[in-house]
Amino acid sequence: MTSTETFWTGKLVLVTGGASFIGSTLTDHLLARGAKVRIVDDLTSGHRDNIREPSAAGKIEFIHADLREPGVTRSAIAGVDTVFHLAADHGGRGYVDLHQAGPASNFFLDGLVFAEALRDRHLCQECSSRMDSVYLSCAHHAAR
Ligand SMILES: NC(=O)c1ccc[n+]([C@@H]2O[C@H](COP(=O)([O-])OP(=O)(O)OC[C@H]3O[C@@H](n4cnc5c(N)ncnc54)[C@H](O)[C@@H]3O)[C@@H](O)[C@H]2O)c1
Repeated sequence: MTSTETFWTGKLVLVTGGASFIGSTLTDHLLARGAKVRIVDDLTSGHRDNIREPSAAGKIEFIHADLREPGVTRSAIAGVDTVFHLAADHGGRGYVDLHQAGPASNFFLDGLVFAEALRDRHLCQECSSRMDSVYLSCAHHAAR
């Protein structure tokens, strides 16, 4: 096996917004590569159905919570090797024009997740900003 094939084996990965379409798909791929996955999602737009199978099989740890609530982000990040931060209030084309407060709150959410990840001495690999919404697609690798 190459190092690429074994990279995720045994790693504990947090997927914020993991009950979303993209988050749950990412989770399936991480599990297939041997990672242990913790999801935190407040289910505002995500769905339990998206993670029903791995949940029923006991393959994921699911935390139903809002990351902005005190202590949630810190405890969700505790002990993880990598964070994929996908939780966000966003929508399709034109969403930000009609829902300005929600997407603006993503700055707070992103800052919170980054601050906690960095506090735990993780290193952010990638940040992306696109179109009218700002989101983060980050892999944090523990500096151990
Ligand atoms: N759908 C797309 O075309 C697309 C394209 C590029 C990037 N993305 C990004 O991928 C990610 C997932 O998007 P999606 O389209 O699959 O679905 P989505 O918008 O439903 O995903 C967001 C997830 O975050 C959760 N969430 C929101 N606020 C939260 C909070 N405060 N605490 C905990 N959980 C919270 C929601 O319940 C949801 O499951 C987003 O970051 C989005 O910006 C999506």
